[in-house]
Amino acid sequence: MAVASTSLACPQFSGLRRSSCPKLDSPPLSISTAQSFFQNLDSHLRLSSSSPRNKACRPVVAMAGSGKFFVGGNWKCNGTKESIGKLISDLNSAMLESDVDVVVAPPFIYIDQVKSSLTDRIEVSAQNCWIGKGGAFTGEISGEQLKDIGCKWVILGHSERRHIIGEDDEFIGKKAAYALGQGLGVIACIGELLQQREEGKTFDVCYKQLKAFADAVPSWDDVVIAYEPVWAIGTGKVATPQQAQEVHVAVRDWLSKNVSAEVASKTRIIYGGSVNGSNCADLAKQEDIDGFLVGGASLKGLVIS
Ligand code: PGA
Repeated sequence: MAVASTSLACPQFSGLRRSSCPKLDSPPLSISTAQSFFQNLDSHLRLSSSSPRNKACRPVVAMAGSGKFFVGGNWKCNGTKESIGKLISDLNSAMLESDVDVVVAPPFIYIDQVKSSLTDRIEVSAQNCWIGKGGAFTGEISGEQLKDIGCKWVILGHSERRHIIGEDDEFIGKKAAYALGQGLGVIACIGELLQQREEGKTFDVCYKQLKAFADAVPSWDDVVIAYEPVWAIGTGKVATPQQAQEVHVAVRDWLSKNVSAEVASKTRIIYGGSVNGSNCADLAKQEDIDGFLVGGASLKGLVIS
């Protein structure tokens, strides 16, 4: 996906990641492939990619758990049976590279439809779940139920749930712990509001949100961190590759200091917020961007009525 350039700076890192740039002997990742990946995504959510894991200084062994780039499509509260059926058939005919994890997150009520008709190559995520075991919790969906219906992942801490629904850090952390305990992978979202960025609080906000996850989860093995600056979500105002990389490095550094060097090295940190076909290639070049969480662009091809 990204062009591995010998001029890329290789930050020193104290964890499992190499602290010096290895010889860049892996084939350079092709921009055109990356562009076609998101051009396809743009038109039909066709997902394919080159080998983004072959980045400078990010040997496979040091990249998150599976060593794979991670691309998630967050469909939010969009779609109908018919339009989602169309999206599924486009996804089923997409050419997907083997070294990219591809996950889609439909609304709860369409998960069963997606699970029963989508290729197994693409995993399914929920967009939320209840904090604990099911029971008398009207309107909620439990982790057990998500597992039962075939979900592999759940998105937790998305800014729309934090800032529109009012979920707080502790509540989200507990949800993550419970979901992991049920065997779900967690896409753990963090990110600052525009005002917080303007006040120079970006790192503090992200660290606080991270700490709530860290305080609650027993293990980071099945966690992917999604850095999604709130001001970039759905606004068309994507973070620059430098802005995103700066936070991703800080997140990795925080994990190294507060959890472990191994977790810092292995945990995938993906970027979300107005990712599309025109900007994904530059973002993916960044050393610490291990994938994307894509909202609007993942819906192209879906007729939203
Ligand atoms: P966006 O949404 O790509 O539409 O900005 C991303 C997200 O909310 O995960």
